[in-house]
Amino acid sequence: MKSRGKIGGGGVFGGWSSLGLPAVLLLCIFFFFLGFFGSSLLSQQVETESSLHPRPRVLKEEEYDPLPRGDSGDDSFTTIPFQILSWRPRALYFPGFATAKQCESIIKMAKVKLAPSTLALRKGETAENTKGIRTSSGMFISSSEDKTGILALIEKKIERATMIPRSNGEAFNVLRYEIGQRYNSHYDAFNPTEYGPQKSQRIASFLLYLSDVEEGGETMFPFENGENADANYDFRKCIGLKVRPRRGDGLLFYSLYPNGTIDPSSLHGSCPVIKGQKWVATKWLRNEEEYD
Ligand SMILES: *[C@@H]1O[C@H](CO)[C@@H](O)[C@H](O)[C@H]1NC(C)=O
Repeated sequence: MKSRGKIGGGGVFGGWSSLGLPAVLLLCIFFFFLGFFGSSLLSQQVETESSLHPRPRVLKEEEYDPLPRGDSGDDSFTTIPFQILSWRPRALYFPGFATAKQCESIIKMAKVKLAPSTLALRKGETAENTKGIRTSSGMFISSSEDKTGILALIEKKIERATMIPRSNGEAFNVLRYEIGQRYNSHYDAFNPTEYGPQKSQRIASFLLYLSDVEEGGETMFPFENGENADANYDFRKCIGLKVRPRRGDGLLFYSLYPNGTIDPSSLHGSCPVIKGQKWVATKWLRNEEEYD
C-alpha cells in the first residue's frame, strides 16, 4: 500500500521526469503520426462517401451570389436541365420535367373525358375527308379545372422554362394513342393563307410525355435540317428526327422563327404506336393571350 501510494504521490510530472527526455520525445512522435494517419484515413472515408453519393448538379448559391431581384423575380437560382435536340427545328428536351406520380394523376383525370381528337380544318377540308390523319383520343383541361393543382405546377414550370407567360398558353390537350394510332406530320402554327386570318399564332409547343411507350409512338420531325422537304414526302412516313416518349420528360419546340414566320422544319407528327400505349399532354404557347 505504502509503496503504491508513493508512486502515485509522485504525480504525473514525477512520472514523466522519471521516463526521461528521449522517451517523451518518442511518445510525442508516436502521437503525431497516429494523428496524421488517423486524419488521412478519415478524410479518405469522406471522399469515398461523396463519390458514392454524387453531388446534385445544382448551382450553389455560395458560388454564385444571386443579384438583387426585381419585384417579380426570384431570390434564388433555379436549374431545369435540358438538352438541345436540334436547331432546325429549335427543339429542346427536358428530362424528368414531371414526376411519375404527377403523370399518373394527369392520366387519371383525363381518362374519364377522352373523345376522338379533332383537327383544325383548312378550306375545303371536312371531318370526313381528313379521317385517319389524327387517330388519337384526347381532351382539353385547363389548370384552373384541376383541383389537385398538378397542372398549375406543370404550367408554372413550363412558364419558367420558356419565359412565355402562362396566360399565353392554351388549355392542356391530353392525348392517348393506342396501338396503330398516329398523327400525320403537320404544323402546330396556322398559316393564314391556308387557315384564314388568325387572332394569334402558336409560337411553340411543349409536350409532356405521361407514359413510356414500349415500341413506336415517337414524335418525329421529318424535315429536320431541311431534309426530305420535297414535294414527295408522304405525311404518314415516320422519318427524320425521332423523339422516343419517356414518362415525365418534356419536349419543347418552336414553330416560328424569331422573325415570326413559320419554320418549315417544325413539321412534326406522331409515329404509330406499335406496342403499348402513349399518353402525352400538350401545351401550345401563343404570341397573344387571345385565341379562337
Ligand atoms: C425569317 O427568318 C428565316 C430564318 O432566319 C429566314 O429564312 C426568312 O427569310 C425570314 N423571313 C422574313 C420574312 O424575314
